[in-house]
Amino acid sequence: MPEGRYERHVFVCLNERGPSHPRGCCAASGSADIHTKLKQLAKERGLSPRIRVNRAGCLDMCELGPSIVVYPENVWYGRVTLDDVEEIVESHLVNGSPVAHLRV
Ligand code: FES
Repeated sequence: MPEGRYERHVFVCLNERGPSHPRGCCAASGSADIHTKLKQLAKERGLSPRIRVNRAGCLDMCELGPSIVVYPENVWYGRVTLDDVEEIVESHLVNGSPVAHLRV
């Protein structure tokens, strides 16, 4: 595989803001643990290096966080919980079927 080419590229917002910020932030709703679990499951399922999971700054979907976007499908997930990560990995990243009930 040529360097820098991925079948899918997953971005997880890890942006952190102070508690008084009106928009809140994904870090406050657990995005770091979600990112860690996504990377772990992707590795366990042998998705690397075809699929890359990256940290992201604010994706401008703060009110719907924790926010994740998957390219090239341009599928956005919001209010993702740790319990949702396995479904995203199995359904979307392994089988190519986005998880409809998590889309925003
Ligand atoms: S803080 Fe995560 S989308 Fe803005």
